Amino acid sequence: MVLEKRNLHPGDLDELAAVHKSIIGALKDKQQYANTTRSEFEEILCGQGMAMGTFDKGKLVGFCIFLFPGDSGENLGIDIGLAEDELDSVVHMEAGAVLSEYRGMALVADMANELLERIKAGARYRYVLSTVHPLNIPSLRIQFKFGLKIVALKEKYGGLMRYILMHDLHEKVQTVYCRQRSIECRDFETQISLLSQGFKGIGFALEQGKEHIIFAK
Ligand SMILES: CC(C)(COP(=O)(O)OP(=O)(O)OC[C@H]1O[C@@H](n2cnc3c(N)ncnc32)[C@H](O)[C@@H]1OP(=O)(O)O)[C@@H](O)C(=O)NCCC(=O)NCCS
Repeated sequence: MVLEKRNLHPGDLDELAAVHKSIIGALKDKQQYANTTRSEFEEILCGQGMAMGTFDKGKLVGFCIFLFPGDSGENLGIDIGLAEDELDSVVHMEAGAVLSEYRGMALVADMANELLERIKAGARYRYVLSTVHPLNIPSLRIQFKFGLKIVALKEKYGGLMRYILMHDLHEKVQTVYCRQRSIECRDFETQISLLSQGFKGIGFALEQGKEHIIFAK
């Protein structure tokens, strides 16, 4: 199989919306993936973000999308208490999805890596932020791989629990952690309490068959 990736353009909107719809339709738990509307995709393709797709023989099989939220009320910087003058330097790792028969090949990580390299080279953006459903383990693992850390757990999108993850591209020194706790993904109360004490979620672990997040500070 020879797969190709390229930037997505406004002309890809119909195919992008169709692939997205098919991925959502196949999800067992629809709450795991917040829906992106056609008009949101259109805005991103027209310059409000960056989008990359992976193609198999010219057919779109997966995509990765970054959004520049600017002064929108949806800017995740507001959720984590960034100063108003920093909101413009926020980029959202907005969505990544792959048709089920093309999963397991790290396609989203590959596309995200290319988009992130461009963001870093541009020096215009500082905070990479994202939301992830607490049990969307593949998505969490992808975010951890790019240095994002869980900094909040709260209701988003009309009542759905979401981790908010953040990576500060200006952070140069490697953080040394003194304390570490491993908490089951389903235990929201303990995780929220640890986050309020300054812990961050830095990794994933499977313990006795149950999904855990490693918190550290
Ligand atoms: C999230 C998604 C895009 C990942 O697909 P992908 O790019 O093919 O990624 P992979 O299947 O290669 O998995 C990524 C990582 O998760 C791990 N993983 C995959 N399934 C897993 C599972 N059930 N449990 C634990 N880890 C898992 C992989 O081993 C890999 O980890 P590694 O890079 O450390 O080896 C895909 O699952 C998807 O399209 N899901 C539906 C849409 C969605 O939820 N998108 C995310 C929110 S925007």
